Amino acid sequence: MCGIFGSILKNGNVAPVIHAGLKRLEYRGYDSVGEATVHDGQLHIKKDAGKIDDVHAVLNLDDMPGRVGIGHTRWATHGAPYQVNAHPHTDCVEEIAVVHNGIIENFADLKLELENSGHVFKSKTDTEVIAHLIEGKLKEGLPLIDAVRAAANRLDGSYALAVISIKEPDKIVCARNESPLTIGITDNAIYFASDIPAFLPLTNKAVIIENGELVVLRQEGYEIRRLADWTVVPRQPEMIDWDPEMAEKQGYPHFMLKEISEQPATLRNTLRLQDQYLELMTEFLDRAGEVFLVAAGTSYHACLAASYMFSKLAFLATHPIISSEFVEQHGKSVNIDSTILFVSQSGETADTLSAVDHAHLRAATILGLTNVIGSTLTRVSRVYVCQQSGPEIGVAATKTFTSQLSVLAQLALRLAKKRGKVSHVEIEFLESKLKQIPDIAGTILKKHSEKIQLLAKKYCDKQCFFFLGRGISSATASEGKLKLMEISYIPAIAYPAGESKHGPISLIDSGFPVIFVCPKDDTHKTIVSNIMEMKARGASIIVLCEEGDEEIKSLADDFIEIPEGVPEILSPILYVIPLQTLAYYITLERGHDPDMPRNLAKCVTVK
Ligand code: F6R
Repeated sequence: MCGIFGSILKNGNVAPVIHAGLKRLEYRGYDSVGEATVHDGQLHIKKDAGKIDDVHAVLNLDDMPGRVGIGHTRWATHGAPYQVNAHPHTDCVEEIAVVHNGIIENFADLKLELENSGHVFKSKTDTEVIAHLIEGKLKEGLPLIDAVRAAANRLDGSYALAVISIKEPDKIVCARNESPLTIGITDNAIYFASDIPAFLPLTNKAVIIENGELVVLRQEGYEIRRLADWTVVPRQPEMIDWDPEMAEKQGYPHFMLKEISEQPATLRNTLRLQDQYLELMTEFLDRAGEVFLVAAGTSYHACLAASYMFSKLAFLATHPIISSEFVEQHGKSVNIDSTILFVSQSGETADTLSAVDHAHLRAATILGLTNVIGSTLTRVSRVYVCQQSGPEIGVAATKTFTSQLSVLAQLALRLAKKRGKVSHVEIEFLESKLKQIPDIAGTILKKHSEKIQLLAKKYCDKQCFFFLGRGISSATASEGKLKLMEISYIPAIAYPAGESKHGPISLIDSGFPVIFVCPKDDTHKTIVSNIMEMKARGASIIVLCEEGDEEIKSLADDFIEIPEGVPEILSPILYVIPLQTLAYYITLERGHDPDMPRNLAKCVTVK
């Protein structure tokens, strides 16, 4: 999604600082970039469509005067990615410049109204209405802060916006509704950003701005007010304990590989979560009349796997639902007895939050699992658990998926214990296995990297891939498919293996690659038959199986072995790792950038 970043410096030119901040926001996905500064009664603006480095090579984004400025990376929603649509946007008389992340739902009506009163629009964006609305209020004689407030009160939709003005060059006025906005503070500068990593190398003192708030930044500090009643909101900065290096690549060629490699550490972190939150959430799940697990994309696949965990361990039936379908599918049946666990790495995914809103209206119990403390999901949840994976910069979710699975497995185990459905011996066995998972993840990463690179070379030219698994492994297969498809652009299909013969098998001809996820669990015998079915039709069989599983290996063209003795419910955490790695290397073989796949954004804040 769009990224916003800006700053007021005590000394020096702000443009290079904004440029560097925007670079740190690249992971959010974007198609255009721009900066505006204010200096000597004039706005200075540079912007264009394209990657930051390319635009900088032509325009020199660092060469702009002024200590006060705003910047933006745009992911097109209204208007194609052209120069004219890039932010910042200005009013008719170039008195103010605005950057905005989000979508203004009533922009068409507002635009018509503004055009009828003489405003001339330059772009096709929804954002430009904000500049003209503020202009209108300034003309009525309001100071900038009041003009921004009045404009914000006319906006329906989501926004994190920032405004500078030549008439009041000492300040930046920001406002937030739904889209994330944070402030960073040092002795020599104040920053705003859509995301903490944008200023993390500069400061770890942050203030999170809430929905419905306006914040005025000055060199001396900040003041937050509620848009609705204009009350001042006192809020002290909090210390963010993400060390700046965590947000860098640390010598890896891509964030995605760095994040895949971090999994032993991030999985370890999930074993150190605060007991009281896990316990409280377990309590809510135990009391629930019905439980929905709601999420999008990779987080949905974690929910899919979790539904097997809850069922098998705690005998709790849960409904895993894709966020964007939730209201249509279950909206009417959700009620005060419903308990909904929303899973979202970012905690800001629009589809998930709109399902949250619906659940809230119907008085359901809202639980959250997220990676981002301070995200909207953490603020609306009755109880939330933070998965503690650290910032994930690569667009493709990797370490956050395995952390979600680990937390969900812990919840299922706690619930099993509480309900007494599974013997103590089994629970203790599973708990001890869970503790070994980080080390086994490390072994898998070390052992298979070279082999996976060879497999990537062998299969990178294939036109399509099939991913199959049975039981909980069908969730692993779905996630493997999503990883490959989203970064390598190779079409891929995932099915529960049993279902593949009801249609998709007709795709198979000689050499069609089929990846089977086959841990040694109750589904093992049947998946052998599914492999035979594919093999008989000429498919190239690639299997993920347990070490020493000679039966499966003898059927495969290629195999990757996972250490023995991984219990079924924990298997997705480990079996997905080679699939993430394979997707990464196939993407490199095909010459694409795995960190920034086209058309995708790290956090999808539109519905
Ligand atoms: C895929 C991916 C996306 C996200 C989805 C939900 O690699 O990252 O599919 O999983 O957009 O995002 P969160 O979990 O932030 O709600």
